[in-house]
Amino acid sequence: MADVKLRGVTKKFGRVVAVNRVTLDISDGEFFAILGPSGCGKTTLLRLIAGLEFPDEGEILIGGRVVNNLHPRDRDVAMVFQNYALYPHMRVFDNIAFPLMVRRRELGLDKEAIRRRVVEVARVLGIEGLLDRYPRELSGGQQQRVALARALVREPKVWLLDEPLSNLDAKLRVQMRAELKSLQRKFGVTTVYVTHDQGEAMSLADRIAVMNEGRVLQVGTPDDLYLKPLDIFVATFIGSPSTNIIPCNVVSVETLELECAGFNLKTGISLDPGILKLGDKVYLGVRPEHVEIRKSQDEGVTLKGKVTIIEPLGSQSIVTLSLGSESIRALTSRDLKVDVGEDVYIRIDVSKTLLYDAKTGKLLL
Ligand SMILES: Nc1ncnc2c1ncn2[C@@H]1O[C@H](COP(=O)(O)OP(=O)(O)O)[C@@H](O)[C@H]1O
Ligand SMILES: [Mg+2]
Repeated sequence: MADVKLRGVTKKFGRVVAVNRVTLDISDGEFFAILGPSGCGKTTLLRLIAGLEFPDEGEILIGGRVVNNLHPRDRDVAMVFQNYALYPHMRVFDNIAFPLMVRRRELGLDKEAIRRRVVEVARVLGIEGLLDRYPRELSGGQQQRVALARALVREPKVWLLDEPLSNLDAKLRVQMRAELKSLQRKFGVTTVYVTHDQGEAMSLADRIAVMNEGRVLQVGTPDDLYLKPLDIFVATFIGSPSTNIIPCNVVSVETLELECAGFNLKTGISLDPGILKLGDKVYLGVRPEHVEIRKSQDEGVTLKGKVTIIEPLGSQSIVTLSLGSESIRALTSRDLKVDVGEDVYIRIDVSKTLLYDAKTGKLLL
C-alpha cells in the first residue's frame, strides 16, 4: 500500500489544458474523491496516476517513488475505466480472475486461492450467481460490477476508479456505495475515486478534491467543503439543494449591510477594515436550510417573499421563494403548510451565510 503525491502536474492536449498545475497529497489507505463537472479533467488526472498519460510538467509519486517514467504495469495500480471493457470470450469468473491469473506466480496463488478470492469479491458485489455467464448475457449494471470486481480482486498499491457506479440504477448505486466503502476499509487500499456526483463523493470519501477547468479549487473533508467552501464554484457544487448565490452591493461597511436585488439585508457582521468598501460587489451564499419561512411577521424578521414552487422530498420540501427580483430556495420541514402564491416572511440566518468576492469568487469571511 502507498501514498500518492502530485506535484504541480500539468497535462495539455493541444491547446486544452486538461490538468493545470495540480498538487495533491493522498494518504496511504485514504479514500480520496476527485469531484467536478464533466470535462474538468478528472479522467485525465486518473490516467496520469495510472501511467496511461504522461505529464507535461510536474511529478507523480507513488509510495514515495517518482513514477513519471514508469510503465503502467510497473506502478502496481488497478483502474476501472468509465468505459470499461470485459473480455467477451471469457466467462465472468475468468474475467474477474484474470488479473490474479497473470500474476499467480509472483503472488504465490494456487487455483483454489484464486477461486476463493474471486468468489469473495463477487459475493460482496452481488454477482456470485453470474460467474458462469458470458459478458453478453449480462445487463449494463451487471457488466459494470464485473469490471469493478476485476479491479478489486487484486490488492495493488492503489485503486483508481473512474465513475464506477455510473451505469447502475439509483437504488443499486446507493447500495454499491456502501459495499465499496466497506471493501476499501477492509483491504485498506489507497483509493482515488472520480465522480461528478457530489452526493457520491460526500458519502464515500475521507477527503475530496473539487476540480473545475483543470484546476483543484479546494481539498477537504466532506464537512470542510460543506461548512466552508472557499470558492463560489465549490459552494454551488456541494450540497443538495445547492446554495443560493445572491449578488449584492455593499451599502454600509461598519456593520455590513447589503443591498441585494430588491431587498436589503443587515448582516450584523463587523468587518476588519479594508476587506470591503462601499459599493463593492459581493455574492452572498445562503444554504437552503438556513432560510426559514414564517407565516407571520415575528420580531427581527424583515424580509417578505412569495412562494413560487414547492417540491416535496418526503420528510422535507424545497420551497422556492421570490424575494425582491431574486429567487431563493428554502429547505423546510414537511409540517410547514404553505401554498404556491402565498405571501410569507423570510428569515435568513445571517450568522451562517458565506460572503464571496464577486471578482475573484473567493470566500471573504
Ligand atoms: N486524448 C485527448 N485528446 C484531446 N483532448 C482530450 C483528450 N482527453 C481529454 N481531453 C480533453 O481534456 C479535457 C478534460 O477531459 P477529461 O479528463 O476526460 O474530463 P472529465 O473526466 O472530468 O470529464 C476535456 O476538455 C477533454 O475534451
Ligand atoms: Mg471522465
